[in-house]
Amino acid sequence: MQHRTIIEPFRIKVVEKIKMTTEEERREFLTRANYNPFLLHSSEVLVDLLTDSGTSAMSSEQWAGIMLGDESYAGASSWLRMEAAVMDLTGCPYVLPTHQGRAAEHLLYSRLGGPGKVFISNTHFDTTRANIEFSGAAAIDVPVPENRQTDLLLPFKGNMDTRALREQILKNGPENVAAVILTVTNNSGGGQPVSMANAKEVSAICRQYGVRLILDACRIAENAWFIKNQEEGYENHTYRAIAQEMCALADGCVMSAKKDALVNMGGFLALRDLDLALQCRTVLIITEGYSTYGGLSGRDMEAIARGLEEVFEPDYLDYRIKSTAYLCEHLHAAGVPVMRPAGGHAVYIDARRFYPHIPVEEFPGQALVCELYLKGGIRTCEIGSVMFGKYDEHGALIPAQMELVRLAIPRRVYTQSHIDYVIETFEELMKDRKSARGFRIAYEPPFLRHFTARFEPV
Ligand code: F0G
Repeated sequence: MQHRTIIEPFRIKVVEKIKMTTEEERREFLTRANYNPFLLHSSEVLVDLLTDSGTSAMSSEQWAGIMLGDESYAGASSWLRMEAAVMDLTGCPYVLPTHQGRAAEHLLYSRLGGPGKVFISNTHFDTTRANIEFSGAAAIDVPVPENRQTDLLLPFKGNMDTRALREQILKNGPENVAAVILTVTNNSGGGQPVSMANAKEVSAICRQYGVRLILDACRIAENAWFIKNQEEGYENHTYRAIAQEMCALADGCVMSAKKDALVNMGGFLALRDLDLALQCRTVLIITEGYSTYGGLSGRDMEAIARGLEEVFEPDYLDYRIKSTAYLCEHLHAAGVPVMRPAGGHAVYIDARRFYPHIPVEEFPGQALVCELYLKGGIRTCEIGSVMFGKYDEHGALIPAQMELVRLAIPRRVYTQSHIDYVIETFEELMKDRKSARGFRIAYEPPFLRHFTARFEPV
């Protein structure tokens, strides 16, 4: 069959205006934002690829559900629908609603963590790591080595290195491993998927040592697409059945509903262990809200219940994964050093290779983020030494493993012409790469510095 354009499997019923800007205006905005796009106003952005989190366009079904939201304090019908949807997906009997993913992380990891404890993951996301470190515990990343090779075309580069997992469990002692966290897809590891075979192996190792396995399931539907289409034996499974099979391997799930539940706010913690669930529920009620709404409105829970259905629709997932690959492959063809194959929700640029003249200490990723904004009004996110860099005892930078820039694609929001515009902006940036300059940090907070740090050009 001839190659056909991937059309968006939806029509647009409501539109939101984008205010056009010039490069001069954007230079002013970026200076005011101290060269940190997190500090820009969204009205100053043309194509916002900062995150795929909470930025989805909801469907007419979900918006209709908003009107049906039951705002009762206790036992709302919207909660019962959300709870049923989460139980069906995770198979976990105890579900705690939270206002977003990190609230679920905080509930669970503050209970399990503390000084002397370690968590082991295929790659901790920044809020996951921050919650763990905030409790006094340590977060250890054990991705497969292929994960670091940005142009190696292998299907499941998000996998956990099971040999390293076993070594870390033995080195720290199983009793000190608070949990193993399998993040699907592996967001900080390039949005790469995790295979079912790997998840099964991780689960078996956890069982062998009596260690708890938690699934960070925020992009589990996208991960299921890769399993169905790329892993032997899953061709005839539904996406939902694949996700359910993966959840069944774990002792619990945390999920930011702002990703694959296709909503603007929400999350949950789902557990099999009653005692642990009761401990977390106590903190939930103190900090988030009563146990049948967490931090959510009834209408939010209604939208989550519907989103968890829609996200597994084959036409949607096919469009979603193929349109992300479209951006990735076109950038690659234009000579941009992208991480390949494409992840599910985002395309990652290797900024060290894009700007080889900018040393890691001057944050090549931040330089690319700023250039994309200036030239194209495109907002993106650095995932490198700004986000994950640390200091040694002499104050010298310990860089992150990779200097990436993430182009995260909001779900059902942009059309192919927006994506083509992003590709054209990259083609322009390629032409005068040498003129880009690095940055130094002028201010930084102690945790999650990338959100509020201020920069100065070097
Ligand atoms: N886990 C993963 C893998 C995530 O990607 C995120 C959020 C969270 C947990 C926390 O969820 O934002 O609802 O509190 N990731 C967003 C991103 C922020 O841009 O990748 P949250």
